[in-house]
Amino acid sequence: MSEIACRVQFAREIAVNAGKLLKGEFGKSILYERKTSVIDLVTQVDRMSERYLVDRIEAAFPSDMVVTEESGVVQSGGNGFSWVVDPLDGTTNFVHSFPHFAVSIGILSGGTPAGAVIYAPIANELFHAETGCGAFLNNQRIHVSQTSALSEALLATGFPYNRRAIIDELLIYIRRAVLSAHGIRRCGSAALDLCSVAAGRVDGFWEQGLKPWDLAAGVLIVTESGGTITDFDGGNHDMNAGRTVASNKLIHGELLRTVLRGE
Ligand code: IPD
Ligand code: CA
Ligand code: CA
Repeated sequence: MSEIACRVQFAREIAVNAGKLLKGEFGKSILYERKTSVIDLVTQVDRMSERYLVDRIEAAFPSDMVVTEESGVVQSGGNGFSWVVDPLDGTTNFVHSFPHFAVSIGILSGGTPAGAVIYAPIANELFHAETGCGAFLNNQRIHVSQTSALSEALLATGFPYNRRAIIDELLIYIRRAVLSAHGIRRCGSAALDLCSVAAGRVDGFWEQGLKPWDLAAGVLIVTESGGTITDFDGGNHDMNAGRTVASNKLIHGELLRTVLRGE
């Protein structure tokens, strides 16, 4: 088994276990704290999931780098492999007992996404991908949709935590999307939004302000399912740049032109 395949298999096991921890706490009254803004929340459940994942990764792969949402770089590594972990993507949903959230684990090799696992415990959906091997949902191969016109597309988006400062810009995109597509969804987990593109449940997605832990796994799941991912101008996607557009490829140009650029 390759070094990446071995890590992906391990990531699948620990993501499911962390998901069980989340599910066990779901629906309870959860105390939350605020992070970068009054609407950017974190709970003890985020930290519990992260502690479990970090402990398992560090014990199994002590020479890999490990980066997490809540703690930053927790193991410096040095062998070229990095784990980028979001222990609970969809914290706001979780706090409100809205059953849509996930554990996201991206594995990079030399800084490039090479393995990916996203687990949604309430739906019991386990997505995984490995470069060159395709993307899977509960072990079944998945593919992006065949929708070829924006006017027949279902789109998804999300709003960054600085949304109140950039509300006018956000609403311009929403207005264009509402006027040009079948519909638009805002489900509250960027990792699962990317999985929805990969599984053909939505045809396109955009969001600004996403961070590497939101994206590291989902970008590979999208590309391995036949989709594409760029910045808002159609250029190379950069996980640190905060301008993400993912689609089934067929509607990508139209999505960029109509929704992002307003042409
Ligand atoms: C958030 C979710 C949400 C997206 C936000 C993310 P978190 O992650 O993915 O859908 O709109 O931009 O920060 O905070 O729940 O891990
Ligand atoms: Ca997140
Ligand atoms: Ca999170």
